[in-house]
Amino acid sequence: MVGRLEKLLLVYAGLRRDDFLLDIGCGSGRLAVQLADWLEGAYLGTDVVQTLLDQAVRACNRPDWRFHKVSGLTVPADSGSVDMACAFSVFTHLRHEETYEYMRDIHRVLKPGGRLVFSFLEFRVPLLWQVMEGNIGSIGQDAVLNQFMSTDAVEVFAQHLGFELSEVHRGDDPFIPQFDPSTGSKIDGELYSFGQSVATYRKP
Ligand SMILES: C[S@@+](CC[C@H](N)C(=O)[O-])C[C@H]1O[C@@H](n2cnc3c(N)ncnc32)[C@H](O)[C@@H]1O
Repeated sequence: MVGRLEKLLLVYAGLRRDDFLLDIGCGSGRLAVQLADWLEGAYLGTDVVQTLLDQAVRACNRPDWRFHKVSGLTVPADSGSVDMACAFSVFTHLRHEETYEYMRDIHRVLKPGGRLVFSFLEFRVPLLWQVMEGNIGSIGQDAVLNQFMSTDAVEVFAQHLGFELSEVHRGDDPFIPQFDPSTGSKIDGELYSFGQSVATYRKP
């Protein structure tokens, strides 16, 4: 379900079938699997964990797609080559300064007009408060970082990096429509919320 929702969100954000998609922190390929029969363009999935990348390669069976292990905050892609980049629940595990530096390199690889779609943890979304409570409960332990990010940081990062902020949606805002996979047109019906808040940046 998560990968399907991620796909719908990217189509909503303007992903086209022949685009080059960069999936930062692709994990075991939840999104890639959903796109494997639909996306005709190039795909680059990156992650810091090789075993997850191996699972993703096996799961989506697209020998033409690339999966790369990365170790820092850079993207192994040429400047100005990517149509759309996404980072789902990735910046949530990085410090703000690291997210900012990652975004700088994502800006580099995007084409003019290219987009970055990312999810983030936001204090004002009641559903996400349980993550905050988990953080509080693990103070003093060597726990995974669950980094919250306020909308003002989302706005200011965009300004400093030279992105336009196209859209921001709270995690509990139902805004994601369904699409007819063959025509790409919206289907009337239920709109979905994403859970984490979502922002879309555009490189002018
Ligand atoms: C919560 S998982 C989300 C996975 C995937 N995006 C999804 O929605 O199913 C976060 C992923 O980010 C990866 N990750 C963490 N730091 C990273 C970094 N600096 N660069 C790329 N991936 C990273 C983790 O290994 C993990 O697979």
